[in-house]
Amino acid sequence: MKDADIVDTAIEGLTARRVWDSRGNPTIEVEIRCASGATGRAIAPAGASRGTREAIDLRDGGDRLGGVDVRRAVSGVTDMIAPLLRGRDAADQAGIDAALIACDGTKLKSKLGGNAMVAASLAVLHAAAAARGVPLWRHVADLTGQTPSLPLPEIQIFGGGAHAGRRVDVQDFMVMVPGAGSFDEVLEVTSEIYRAAGAIMARKGKLAGVADEGGWWPSFDSNEEALETLVAAIEAAGETPGERVVISLDIAASEFGSNGRYRLALEDRELDRGQLIDLLGRWIDAYPIASIEDPLAEDDSEGMVAFTALYGDRLQIIGDDYLVTNAALVDAAAAAGACNAVLIKVNQAGTVSESIECAARARKHGFRGIVSARSGETEDVSISHLAVGLGAGQLKVGSITRSERTAKWNECLRIAGALGPGAYAGGAALAGTWWGRKGDDT
Ligand code: PGA
Ligand code: ZN
Repeated sequence: MKDADIVDTAIEGLTARRVWDSRGNPTIEVEIRCASGATGRAIAPAGASRGTREAIDLRDGGDRLGGVDVRRAVSGVTDMIAPLLRGRDAADQAGIDAALIACDGTKLKSKLGGNAMVAASLAVLHAAAAARGVPLWRHVADLTGQTPSLPLPEIQIFGGGAHAGRRVDVQDFMVMVPGAGSFDEVLEVTSEIYRAAGAIMARKGKLAGVADEGGWWPSFDSNEEALETLVAAIEAAGETPGERVVISLDIAASEFGSNGRYRLALEDRELDRGQLIDLLGRWIDAYPIASIEDPLAEDDSEGMVAFTALYGDRLQIIGDDYLVTNAALVDAAAAAGACNAVLIKVNQAGTVSESIECAARARKHGFRGIVSARSGETEDVSISHLAVGLGAGQLKVGSITRSERTAKWNECLRIAGALGPGAYAGGAALAGTWWGRKGDDT
């Protein structure tokens, strides 16, 4: 980078404020101003089904606002992060993130708070891009050395687990449309499926509302009923399940299991790890499922390895709670054969640089990458740009409703216009799964 750029991208000022997320909870926004006058702003998202090894959000505790206020985290930005960053070069993302990590000094970022750190780290990224006069996705691609690519979406139709009062055990019932030729076509096909699902559920008295990530809040009697309804919705939308459209599940098994035991509350039964793997195996055989996230709990490496040995050559198997966007855990999972894809959530890691490192490590091991939102979100669209600039291949932000979700999809549509049609990852993101091989045959 030229010397002139360094002067322009020097950080002059930093502001932190309390703002609100899609669950009505307080969260933290950081705004950074560079010497050139360029500004960058970002908001921390918040998870509800959090991994125990992810960066900790600093919350005030106590009775007010359910204990989730962020006044301490906001003060920490003003008192500790602002003096640390003032005068530094915003274009030096790695140096700034290293300084944030050193200042925090804890394993799970509990001193400054992962929420304060991620908002500051992403705001730096935005400010540097603005000062350079390039779109955020381009700035990320320059930092990572990756070719920008528009991701294949993974879109929720029904919510469950911690996002829908545990009305079904499985957390996310999603579709992917790897057979569509463009991002725009994926959204259109998915919107038809979402409408069809709602109509079927309403007719059968199974529609209870809308879940945290915008998917329907179901009142099904079993997890299988959800899968049957999803297949029916895909067909009602005029599609043949397994052709253009496939199913993707986030089991989020850490939410209902530990120590190799799993409690399916909806069906009132307890399974051991082998029985859960058998159950998932029956679903994989019966339904066109191409991707499964956290099939076993975060403490169940034995189960993850056994599951991946059985299904890793057919499916995308994603570690979310299991990997918490941690490069060292990705290394360990690759060595053990415990999954073959990583969910990338910047606030699990706590900084942009650690997320970039995790994505790079995943690529080295041949893991697929899925950039992901949290269940508590805002209008912040940084992750759309990250997915493109990391060349991650896939993006998961919840459903095709609610503005904190559609903001991300709509930003991708804008980026699509700038990138041109050749840059869409599409079905190639599922190469190596049964769907990808089917594509090879035709
Ligand atoms: P969370 O879950 O954002 O509520 O933690 C999302 C996911 O498990 O993918
Ligand atoms: Zn998950």
